[in-house]
Amino acid sequence: MERTQIKNISNKEIDSSFLISGWVEKVRDHGGVIFLDIRDASGLMQVVVEPDDKELFKKSESIRMSYVLEVTGILRKRPKGTINESLASGELELVSKEIDILSKSKPLPFQLDEHAKVGEEVRLKYRYLDLRRPEMQSNLKIRSQVNHVIRNHLIDEGFIEIETPMMARATPEGARDFLVPSRLYNQKFYALTQSPQLFKQMLMIGGFEKYFQIVRCFRDEDTRKDRQPEFTQLDVELSFISEDEVLNISESLIKKVFSETLNIDFEDFSRIKYQDAVKDFGSDKPDLRNPLKLIDVKDIFNNSSFKVFADPAKNDKSRIVALKIDQEISRNKIDEYTKFVANFGAKGLAYIKVNDAKDLEKGLQSPILKFLSTDEISSLAERLELSSGDTVFFGADHRNIVNDSMSALREKLGEDLNLIDHEAYKFSWITDFPLFEEDVQGNLSPSHHPFTATQGGLEALKKDPANATAKAYDLILNGSEIGGGSLRINDINEQLEVLSILGIEKKEAEEKFGFFLEALSYGCPPHGGIAFGLDRLVMLLCKQESIRDVIAFPKTQSATCLLSDAPSHIDQDQLDMLSIKVIEEDS
Ligand code: AMO
Ligand code: AMP
Repeated sequence: MERTQIKNISNKEIDSSFLISGWVEKVRDHGGVIFLDIRDASGLMQVVVEPDDKELFKKSESIRMSYVLEVTGILRKRPKGTINESLASGELELVSKEIDILSKSKPLPFQLDEHAKVGEEVRLKYRYLDLRRPEMQSNLKIRSQVNHVIRNHLIDEGFIEIETPMMARATPEGARDFLVPSRLYNQKFYALTQSPQLFKQMLMIGGFEKYFQIVRCFRDEDTRKDRQPEFTQLDVELSFISEDEVLNISESLIKKVFSETLNIDFEDFSRIKYQDAVKDFGSDKPDLRNPLKLIDVKDIFNNSSFKVFADPAKNDKSRIVALKIDQEISRNKIDEYTKFVANFGAKGLAYIKVNDAKDLEKGLQSPILKFLSTDEISSLAERLELSSGDTVFFGADHRNIVNDSMSALREKLGEDLNLIDHEAYKFSWITDFPLFEEDVQGNLSPSHHPFTATQGGLEALKKDPANATAKAYDLILNGSEIGGGSLRINDINEQLEVLSILGIEKKEAEEKFGFFLEALSYGCPPHGGIAFGLDRLVMLLCKQESIRDVIAFPKTQSATCLLSDAPSHIDQDQLDMLSIKVIEEDS
């Protein structure tokens, strides 16, 4: 008899014989009748072993969880009162006639339905068992579907999928490289690519106008919930293209992914300039499900006698913002939030409680009121449109500290006060990024990467590099950066100028990216593109907390593979072959 997948067995085939195979998920011995829940990749079926066939019954008594069985039986309806509504096959059962034990199993290190109780370490060590859970099966199925939709859509749109090397020279995405020693060339190393950035640009020079690749990238950086040392990008590049066109093409693709996998359609994504995002949310990754906004109040305190506000009011690198909540917040909570913002460098968290908005003299409550003038208070009330019952928090400091601490507070309040609709998906494009970031010493580093074009070109770049704006954009979903890209430099002089501003002079540039600079000088079309973090996209689409839940065999937070125990020591022979001498930790 041929095997039938469980999902294909329907209640229209009562009394027919079926052969199913899968894992035993549960064994129940109900005094004389044994029930076996059998799961295959498609679903779950209850198998009944009745006592009349003594031999079969005896065999069944030895069956344990996780055994792999092949069962032949006759389909029947479950008796009334035993129907399981939550299961596709919940009104059916297979009365066994023959059972073959295909493989036995040791007792499982954790019960699959109690996965939440065991630490993630156990789940990752026995990942192959964890993968049997319906949630993991569903996540990886959706991931495969997403890949399929992407490939179909882009190929229909005339893109070509091209693979680029993973073993290459160090690439400049800003993280540390994973290195691979070369056996043939002593003392030389390949770097695993952090992204195909330079290769995709050279594909444009090579005459392919529409490229994509679903590609593994490697970055030796601190791992987080939404970061892995190896992760997957959907990488896209196009020639003869405007920024608007890249955004539109990307947006159609992402909309298609959601409509084909979840059957959800979206309105056009909002487009927010970087400066406005930072102004309103203190962040370039705003979670637009959260309705709270920061409100600038610096100008109100130009002549203030409250030192905490007066100093930043006079400093053009500082910011003073208010965050208004239409709820009363307890003293304890305010203390908790004050400690919370201290983690981001804030020296305090001034607040005002509004008991009666109509009476600004007696209706407000705050330790800072005594330092504020009547004018300052009435300007605040007007700017913030205060109502009775509101609480207002203030951040005043260097703008970076205010942005970091108040955007974190905005997110925390959004969660604590239940302001966020966790079912929703809110997308936004952030555009017009600064080309460079400036550190406290005034050194510039690229906001994206050094191949990003400047608005206004070489002229704007030369005039005021620190304030130049990039032709760069990020796609944000629910506060997570799921993609980023830019239009690229296609002029060798502009490229050399950017490298020189970054302190990479011609000689060093030649040494590091000589091959690329050479390529730029043989007719480079105007081009640009984007890369999406596929793991992050699928994580958010599946409403998972961590990208590890949408990767079959992920690394831990500390970049290890608990399953295969990587990284590991290497035999001396192998090290010798690579001319590598390992320095012992304590020497
Ligand atoms: P970027 O470095 O912004 O751009 O990466 C693009 C997207 O990849 C995802 N991502 C990650 N996901 C998981 N783990 C990581 N460690 C990780 N790092 C990045 C993010 C991010 O938005 N070459 C450019 C793209 C371009 O300019 O076209 C690049 O790699 O979702
Ligand atoms: P202080 O004068 O330091 O006692 O501060 C008075 C009030 O201002 C307290 O509520 C502090 O939490 C708050 N505060 C102090 N520094 C800051 C700051 N940089 N930003 C916002 N509030 C602050």
